Amino acid sequence: MITLGIETSCDETAVAVVEDGFTVRANLIAAQVHLHERFGGVVPEVAARAHVEALNPLMAETLEAAGLSGFGQIDGVAVTVGPGLVGALLVGMAAAKSVALATGADLIGVHHLEGHIWANFLTHGPPQPPYVALVVSGGHTMIVHMPVVHRHEVMGQTLDDAAGEAFDKVARMIGLGFPGGPALDLTARDGNPEAIRFPRAMEDSGDFNFSMSGLKTAVLRYLKAERAAGRDIHQPDVAASFQEAIVDVQVRKTIEAAQQVGVDTVLLGGGVVANTRLRERMEHEGSAAGLRVLFPPLDLCTDNAAMIACVGAARLIRGERTSLDIGADPNLGLGS
Ligand code: KG4
Ligand code: ZN
Repeated sequence: MITLGIETSCDETAVAVVEDGFTVRANLIAAQVHLHERFGGVVPEVAARAHVEALNPLMAETLEAAGLSGFGQIDGVAVTVGPGLVGALLVGMAAAKSVALATGADLIGVHHLEGHIWANFLTHGPPQPPYVALVVSGGHTMIVHMPVVHRHEVMGQTLDDAAGEAFDKVARMIGLGFPGGPALDLTARDGNPEAIRFPRAMEDSGDFNFSMSGLKTAVLRYLKAERAAGRDIHQPDVAASFQEAIVDVQVRKTIEAAQQVGVDTVLLGGGVVANTRLRERMEHEGSAAGLRVLFPPLDLCTDNAAMIACVGAARLIRGERTSLDIGADPNLGLGS
């Protein structure tokens, strides 16, 4: 069974071919970061236009890389329907519908965050729930209980910014450019995570929610005070200390969530899972708590279409189909 995956929810145009749900035959990405860099963030209209230009050639390239002779060999088309930027989503959905209509392949709409969770199964094998998943991306931060396949109970989430957003904003404050997450990760390696004690927001809130705005303000206040005092900012120390404050709370709450529902395996998903310190500490502290911690390889943490094809194939096998008149849902909830 050959599934074509299409993902255009944000600023990566991504196409993949996955065989039998879990074997990646090709997984290509056309990044647009150079188009958004000068604006310091993703511009929705620019992203949608860039998807329009990139998608057709990228589909052809992906089919070729997968060793397919054409669209006729595709059994199913999986596409992200939300959450994400509406204009960007619509480009991928129009392409997916066209392929389905022209070839008779089955269409299946996929939730972007379920894709991030399923990126794990491309590496670690088919799902064996129950799990607790920490999903941390540019737009979301949540802890999800997955008691059975395709069922998601959101245990907690961020009340303001997403983790990736906080990484990007703080990276910009200390002059690391856009997108800041990966640069901050690199810079933090040379810093002391205990140099500055930034607040651990909602650490003891007794729930599984997060908040990033206080931490962001604390970093800003620290930078202002240092500059006012005429002291140089030590980028690596600020990066490492900020990162530690975020990671501390995420690791602790994820372990507590797993213990509360009594699961023994934790899944990590989303772009922020590419973060070295988060992977390191989650693995170390998770195993000390008797938990198995799984995360995808780096290239499957950030947005890609293989993860979308993986979820889509599993849903198609269950007999699910998406109608050709489905619209994009920029705020699609994980429970829906
Ligand atoms: O999942 P993703 O690729 O796109 C969304 O669905 O949003 O996540 C992108 C986010 C960005 O905010 C980026 O800065 C962050 O993931 N990110 C990182 C790292 N790599 C990507 N954050 C911290 N450390 C990293 N190594
Ligand atoms: Zn994502």
